[in-house]
Order: sequence, then structure tokens, then C-alpha cells
Amino acid sequence: MNKIFSGIRPSGKLHLGNYLGAIKNWLALSEAEGIDQTIFAVVDLHGITTPYDPKKFPDQVMDTVCDYLAAGVDPDKSLLIRQSHVPQHTELAWLLNTITPVSWLDRLPTYKEKLEQTPKYHNMGLLDYPVLMAADILLYKSTLVPVGEDQLPHIDLTNEIAKRFNSTFGNTFEPVKPYLTEGARIMSLQEPTKKMSKTGDDGIALSDSPDTIREKIKKAATDSGKEIKYDEQNKPGISNLLTIYHLLSNKEISVLESQYAGKSYVELKNDLAEVVVNFLKPHQEKYNDLRDNPDKVLKILEASEQKAREIAEKNLKEIKQKMGLG
Ligand code: AMP
Ligand code: TRP
Repeated sequence: MNKIFSGIRPSGKLHLGNYLGAIKNWLALSEAEGIDQTIFAVVDLHGITTPYDPKKFPDQVMDTVCDYLAAGVDPDKSLLIRQSHVPQHTELAWLLNTITPVSWLDRLPTYKEKLEQTPKYHNMGLLDYPVLMAADILLYKSTLVPVGEDQLPHIDLTNEIAKRFNSTFGNTFEPVKPYLTEGARIMSLQEPTKKMSKTGDDGIALSDSPDTIREKIKKAATDSGKEIKYDEQNKPGISNLLTIYHLLSNKEISVLESQYAGKSYVELKNDLAEVVVNFLKPHQEKYNDLRDNPDKVLKILEASEQKAREIAEKNLKEIKQKMGLG
């Protein structure tokens, strides 16, 4: 039986990359056979390792939770938590810190990337970020983690830390597997050689209005030549648009290539914009309804967090006992 855990930082509006790379797989796994625990977190403690506005932050957390629910995360099947409301995450992170060599952390690509983006924000939390992520996963003895491709180094590190714990203090954690599918790397609309992110105009937010979506897709970078053909190397822009079209419409890429043979980039973009608008319409209706009912959302969170703290406490007790802290 697998135990699922995943999380997203509440650092801005969720975008199509978050949906296709992560949340879509969360939904598929929470319906799958052989799963006996599913926990999805808004990882607010990770969110504060990069610059943020404490006044706007609570609202961003609620936004993210509403996006999870609107996308179809079912609180009867999965626990939906705010990481900072289950204090065992940080306690386990400290314990794991004591068995994690610094040299495993300062070589990670995500750390280097964030340092480049915000050099003045060089805090311990940024370096320690992956240990907290390992704690998120191991706290619930999770075995399967649906994420996008950028998170693979963090899953590898989680396994290294778990192995070291097992060999030092006795067998406790099973290997953790990442779960990735075709949407694991959706690219920026503006710079299709970079991944879609929460900053600027390079992503389509799940909450973008139809006109904003049309405008962003119209402005999306395309490639030289006229042919509508999937070719990541030479046509990264068109390949990314085809991937998004394929994943939202369930039409195979080869079918789309034939459908658009001899047609222009503009025609492809116009049709894709309508596919995205129609796909997001029901999501946005549910999202708006949830945003108007914050009490209902808070109730869901509080019930989930209560259950999560119980599972966490039981596992943490075992871990501390093994470490000589019983
Ligand atoms: P983040 O927004 O960085 O907290 O990412 C949350 C989840 O979305 C993680 O599982 C990421 O791997 C995934 N993700 C973020 N950006 C992308 C992207 N451009 N394509 C696919 N998955 C992504
Ligand atoms: N680091 C992940 C990201 O930036 C978010 C995250 C934190 C996470 N803890 C996690 C993802 C545990 C999966 C499991 O996207």
C-alpha cells in the first residue's frame, strides 16, 4: 500500500504547470487502488524562505487551498493541510538536520537557482529547504510523491537522509518514489526554454480571466519557420503549446499535428486559448464559490490538520525514541 504526500508553496497564483505537473497526478493517485493515505499540503514554511509580504501571505495560503479544492481534491479522501499548522514538520526537520551533511545541500540546483534570483535573501531556511521537504514526506512515512521534474533532486535527497536514518537508528523508512507524468515540465510562454513559474507573464494562472488567457497565449513566443510540429530542440515554443493542448484536450500530439498541418501559428493559438478558457471555466466557478465561503474551507483544513497531527505525533514518537530522545 502506498502513502501519498505532496505540497505546493503559496508563493503566488497556481499556474497550468502546477496543475499539469502536480495536481492532476494528485487527483489520479487519490482515486487509484492500493493507496492508504493521501495528504496534500500548502507548504507555507517553505514559502517564507523567499521574499514575501506577511500581510498578503494568509490570503495566498487560502488562494492555494481553494485552488486545490476547485481542481478536485476531495477532502473526504485526502487530508488537506497547512504545513505550519502541524508543528511536527519542523520538529522532524530539526532531527533530520542532525544527520544531514551540509555538503548534500549546498550543491543542489534549486538552492543555487534561488540564490541567483534573490542574492540578498541568503538565509539558513533556503539552504535547509530540502531537509524540511524530506521531513514533510518522512513524517507520514510516505512512499509516493507526485511532483514536477524540478523536484527530483529533493526526492533523491529525501532517500539519502532516510537511508542514513535507517542505518544509524534502525529500519524506519521505506524508499520514497517520485510520481511523474507527461506534464512534469511545462515551459514558460515567454521563454520556452525555462519552466513555467509563478512570476510575471510567463504562466497562465488557474484564476486568469478568459481575456487574460487569450492575450497571454497570443503573446506566447513561437519559433522560426511555419510548420506546426513537435520538436523540443528546434521548436520549444510550439512544442510547449502542443503539450498543453494535448494534456487539456486529451488529443494525441500526432493528431494535433495533422489537424494543424498547413495552418498558421495564429490558428493554433486561437484554438488553444479556447481550450484553456473552457478547461478553466468550471475550476474558476468552484474557486470563486470557495473564496466566498472561507468558513467552509477553514473547517476542512482544521479537521484535516487534527488528523494529520495524530499520524505525525505517532510517527515522531517512534523516531525520537530511536534517536535516544524517548
Ligand atoms: P512550486 O510552485 O514550485 O511550489 O511547485 C509546486 C509543484 O508544481 C511541484 O510539484 C512542482 O514540481 C510543480 N511544478 C512547478 N512548476 C512546474 C512546471 N513548469 N511544470 C510542471 N510542474 C511544475
Ligand atoms: N519543494 C516543493 C516545490 O517547490 C514543495 C514541497 C515542499 C513539496 N514539501 C514537499 C513537494 C513535499 C512534495 C512533497 O514545489
